[in-house]
Amino acid sequence: KESVMRVCSVQEMRAMDRYAIEHLAIPEEILMENAGLAAAAVLKREIGIPGRKFVIFCGGGNNGGDGFVVARKVFSDGGTVRVFLLADPEKFRGAARTNLDILKRLPIDLISVESAEQVRCDIRHCHGIVDAIFGTGLDRPVGGLFKEVIDLINGSGRKVLSLDIPSGVNGDTGEIMGVAVQADFTVTFGLPKIGNILYPGFSRGGKLHVCHISFPPDLQAGTSRGVLLNNPPPVPPRNLDAHKGSVGEALFIAGAANYFGAPCFAALSFLKAGGGYSRLAAPASMIPSIAQRGGEIVFVPQRETAAGSLSGDNFEELLALSAKMDMVVIGPGLSLEEETKSLVRALVQDIARPLLIDGDGITAVASRPELISERKAPTILTPHPGEMARLSGMSIQDIRRERIRILQETAANLRAIVVLKGAHSLIGMPDGRVFINLSGNPGMATAGSGDVLTGTIAAMYGQGLPLEDAVCKGVLIHGLSGDLAAEARGEDGITAQDILNFLPEARKADRE
Ligand code: APR
Repeated sequence: KESVMRVCSVQEMRAMDRYAIEHLAIPEEILMENAGLAAAAVLKREIGIPGRKFVIFCGGGNNGGDGFVVARKVFSDGGTVRVFLLADPEKFRGAARTNLDILKRLPIDLISVESAEQVRCDIRHCHGIVDAIFGTGLDRPVGGLFKEVIDLINGSGRKVLSLDIPSGVNGDTGEIMGVAVQADFTVTFGLPKIGNILYPGFSRGGKLHVCHISFPPDLQAGTSRGVLLNNPPPVPPRNLDAHKGSVGEALFIAGAANYFGAPCFAALSFLKAGGGYSRLAAPASMIPSIAQRGGEIVFVPQRETAAGSLSGDNFEELLALSAKMDMVVIGPGLSLEEETKSLVRALVQDIARPLLIDGDGITAVASRPELISERKAPTILTPHPGEMARLSGMSIQDIRRERIRILQETAANLRAIVVLKGAHSLIGMPDGRVFINLSGNPGMATAGSGDVLTGTIAAMYGQGLPLEDAVCKGVLIHGLSGDLAAEARGEDGITAQDILNFLPEARKADRE
């Protein structure tokens, strides 16, 4: 999964197809043949073909055409195959038409489906199902006969191979358009589509095989506004004569009454991820108890309000201290008290060092985007979808549906690196690039997990990675640490403490 770097939109894939056909004079039939051949090879490897029985469902577009090629390959490889057409045979065009005409001349069962009942028996008695109903051409919700057939496929208990993307998954967003095939394997052509990688689409695809269909590598290399898989360069090795100042110094402005965990996890994660010097500016009354859990942290006791959050008169001290740091993190567990929010806004405006804003810090500045966009030094924001909604002015539902576009716009408008947290977190750069992170697991959806991310990112920067790479690496390592915790203890019941504890192992695994 690491060797594939770029992920493409439906439009980009169409443009690549068109370029290959029109400028490279590769006939559409060759591209389709390569796709079908690659899919049949996966079928052979995963299920076996000789002596096995397959059912192939073909829709009316080119995805169906790919299915026809698979049918022909299975037949010539000694398998038995029955093709169910979910479209009027007269409507096929181009290479799909050619391949349908070839199939008609072969002794392969080709059946136009009128009702779902027709396919029930075959589905039950086959070794595998090939889903070639819709690929990237899906352009509306799936209903009627298509839905009934997809429901039958999903209830069959048979192994399912989807061509390009499981039918029903939107290629650009990963959304399920009403209903979608649950595949065991997906063969995607050329490059993975965004919908293959983003949830919930990702969870429908099973094991993903990326197969080349003869596009030249430079055609696949992509543009600066592209979507990529998160694969940052290594952290520079620790010098033999390293000292704590040479591997990063960070200040965490965090904590308020009742939020003891957030400041502690944030400041400690910086150290566990390899950072040198972690300072925590928290309300003075909290420090004795935090110190019991994190004696390695250097504390900067702060004056506090009656409610126990940071008071405005800490401003000068925090600003002066910030100037000496590699990175400042503001936000974990700060509370939403008005005086504290004003302090955050003033600090965001004036801190002239790279600043990571998380949690309550994001909420404090969300209504004042100019405070972020006009900052003189770089800004990183690490919102969860709710905070992203506040930052972008969009609803959480919109964000689920159009994550990539909204992230690109928000990062550009705020001139900030924005990490949109969630399953397969996204990292948006101000220039429009988006990185999709693949590490991590559902066990990490737990309180305090995001606090650990802040320190991890700061630590990557402190150890010498350029800022964008540091953010990408922090997100990767945080997920890896959660994966190692899940491997050791199972996904259920991972806590922020576990993610924190596995950070050194995650760093080690990342180096190997
Ligand atoms: N319900 C019914 N029909 C639909 C729906 C829907 N929800 N959505 C799209 N269609 C129809 C379209 O009208 C069109 O006839 O499905 C067909 C498009 O399906 P695709 O085969 O996905 O689209 P197409 O652009 O022809 O091919 C793209 O071809 O290069 C291969 O597999 C590769 O995914 C790629 C596919």
